[in-house]
Amino acid sequence: MPLDHYVTLGRSGLRVSPFALGAMTFGEDPGAAGCSVEESERILSAYLDRGGNFIDTANFYTNGHSEKILGDYFAARPGRRQHVVLASKFFGNLFPGDPNGGGAGRASIIAQIHESLRRLRTDYLDVYWLHNWDRHTPIEETMRTLDDLVRAGKIRYVGFSNTPAWLTAQAQTLALLKGWTPLIALQVEYSLLARTVEGELAPLAADQGMALVPWSPLRNGFLSGKYRRGAEVTDSARSAFVGGPSEREYEVIDAVAAVADELGASSAAVSLAWLRSRPGTVVPIVGARRLEHLESNLAGLDVRLAPEHLEALDKVSEPELNYPSPVNGSIRSMLQFAGATVDGEESVVYPPLLQSAVRY
Ligand SMILES: NC(=O)c1ccc[n+]([C@@H]2O[C@H](COP(=O)([O-])OP(=O)(O)OC[C@H]3O[C@@H](n4cnc5c(N)ncnc54)[C@H](OP(=O)(O)O)[C@@H]3O)[C@@H](O)[C@H]2O)c1
Repeated sequence: MPLDHYVTLGRSGLRVSPFALGAMTFGEDPGAAGCSVEESERILSAYLDRGGNFIDTANFYTNGHSEKILGDYFAARPGRRQHVVLASKFFGNLFPGDPNGGGAGRASIIAQIHESLRRLRTDYLDVYWLHNWDRHTPIEETMRTLDDLVRAGKIRYVGFSNTPAWLTAQAQTLALLKGWTPLIALQVEYSLLARTVEGELAPLAADQGMALVPWSPLRNGFLSGKYRRGAEVTDSARSAFVGGPSEREYEVIDAVAAVADELGASSAAVSLAWLRSRPGTVVPIVGARRLEHLESNLAGLDVRLAPEHLEALDKVSEPELNYPSPVNGSIRSMLQFAGATVDGEESVVYPPLLQSAVRY
């Protein structure tokens, strides 16, 4: 699938490319593990030239430099900004000691959007993400403020990132009942090395017609192919912050490498293709510290995984989900369907029901 074959982002009228571009590594500021302004612009140009249109940043990335790099890039190229879907996030506090400098309260959201629009040199954002759960602010205050920003023309669509499913469901229900702007997508950690989102948030997204937008789709580069058992990773800025894979993670990395070798593709491409094979609309945000990373990752759009590849990858990466997920799978279908097949789902009969025909 080419980058310019667009998909609709959740229950909305917004069309985005099948891979978003992450700008978290734009800038060489402390803690970023990022790249220079020039390399960031090369990455951005390559992505846009191939028809990519969905760019992800945050007020907090590289202390605001990521937004500034994007703003300067588009300001120097009149006419291009309005053809991209520019997304940023609020929550991160850039002002040490100021309790209202971040979070999701009314005053802080309004201050943060103004700062983001200033750095991005634009009048509006296409998608505005809540970056994290603000447990000190009522969710109705956050949702009402976001709706006000939509009505004021400062943002167009709203999504959540890193929030618990119960809170996300509460926010969505509130928005729908109040006639406020609903959430169209959830930005979640999701990869072959991070699948616990499948327990609560992914089913919520499916139920509510929200797209899933996975962050760290290569789990900080662990799935890129450059992490190999027993070999030192020499070309990485991120590894200094995140260390290396665990033994359990290497089992998945090995399985990905085996599929990649069979297909003549990179591990990065296979990992991203696996994400795209997941149910519903899944739009991974690709990360790149070098132009070559972007090119290797975009190749994930051309990889076709056969059923046996998917089965092997699904099995080796199977997540351990929190209660009540374990009792909502085959135990549920056994108790509910008693051996019948429903909507393609097979079930078995609860054994005691077969041991006696007596019913009361
Ligand atoms: N909502 C959130 O909380 C949240 C959190 C994190 C990220 N995000 C978003 O998601 C985007 C992507 O996240 P991420 O950067 O963590 O993604 P990732 O793909 O898991 O990691 C990207 C890093 O892996 C390495 N890498 C990527 N592709 C490679 C390749 N083909 N070959 C070799 N190395 C490769 C590079 O680091 P090194 O070269 O330094 O090893 C690169 O900076 C971010 O830009 C941001 O927009 C959101």
